[in-house]
Amino acid sequence: MRERAFWIVFFLGLMTLSLAACGGGGAGTDGAVIDESGDTPDVPEEPPITPPVEPSALDQQLLQALEDRDVDTPQAPPIPADALVALGKALFFDKELSGNRNISCATCHHPTTGTGDDLSVSIGQGGSGLGSARLLGSGALIPRNAPPLFNKGLPAFRTMFWDSRVSIGQGGALNTPEPALNGPRPTAGAIAQELTTALAAQAIFPLTSHAEMRGDPGENELADAADNLEVWTLIMDRLVGTDNGTQGGFAEYRALFQAAFPAVADIDGFHIGHVGAALGAYEDLAFRALDSSFDRYLAGDLAAMTDEARRGALLRSRGLRPLPRRPAADRRASSRPRRPPGRPGARSQWG
Ligand code: HEC
Repeated sequence: MRERAFWIVFFLGLMTLSLAACGGGGAGTDGAVIDESGDTPDVPEEPPITPPVEPSALDQQLLQALEDRDVDTPQAPPIPADALVALGKALFFDKELSGNRNISCATCHHPTTGTGDDLSVSIGQGGSGLGSARLLGSGALIPRNAPPLFNKGLPAFRTMFWDSRVSIGQGGALNTPEPALNGPRPTAGAIAQELTTALAAQAIFPLTSHAEMRGDPGENELADAADNLEVWTLIMDRLVGTDNGTQGGFAEYRALFQAAFPAVADIDGFHIGHVGAALGAYEDLAFRALDSSFDRYLAGDLAAMTDEARRGALLRSRGLRPLPRRPAADRRASSRPRRPPGRPGARSQWG
């Protein structure tokens, strides 16, 4: 009997020990979690970044948010022909297109400054230097800044400039500051016909702006031209020459234009529409950037973005959420209207 009692006590003891072990272990683990989360209540521990096979809860939220906002992989236009891009590149970096031969498209849209100029307002012809290092000197100040050109060749971009003053309709009709190019039957039809994107149509307008590229009246033949169409003709005279390329112009440009537009029978057939088309093609291809981690994520590669980036995208797609309301007592303490700093009664100063 005593022997049985011993064994019962022995087994009970063992069970207690093992329960204590489990419980102790469990309590220890829980305790560790509580301690850690107590230390950093708002920042959950970052899980290691591993390519998720299945969409995580975060992915599901983000993909839904993107779908709700019709965010989709942008449709890229076909790759333009090499010869067209080569001509556009030569034109984009060439000061010959400006009245005083002192500024090119690249001066304000240089690739090294992210294709914008990084200035609060652009410095036009007569200034010196590139991008954000450009100095005004006796140059002209443009009342706006130069927007970056990334992805502006995508068909989704149908308007150009901050005020959309250049745009292209679904049927290809242009709306620009030059009436001769506008509408379904433009009077300058040959030029308009080459301007098949908003980007191509935009490209011929910096050339007509006195402050941007053309120069002041009295300074050069482009600045003195009677209208836009004459400016554009005079630019072609500079580039490919007159009398079918026998007077003036550059042999290199004649070759580039001929390679880019083999269907144009003779040199006199080239016009500013070809310049716009080539500049648009170069800008489209050179500044096309459709392979960011977000682009790849949108295309279905869920491992392309880090968790942090995914959380950022989710936040961005939802907009900023209002801050949590403060407790009532807190609100009462500061419910008196606050006087703006500065002169008493000078409210309008602060909006
Ligand atoms: C003096 C600096 C300067 C030069 C030179 C210049 N640009 Fe710009 N560019 C600007 C500014 C400023 C704007 C915005 C003007 C506005 O919206 O009214 C702009 C706008 C644009 C836009 C519209 C982008 C958008 O998002 O709407 C394109 C495209 C562009 N420029 C291409 C060119 C090309 C091509 C040339 C050469 C033919 C050129 N620029 C020459 C300063 C310049």
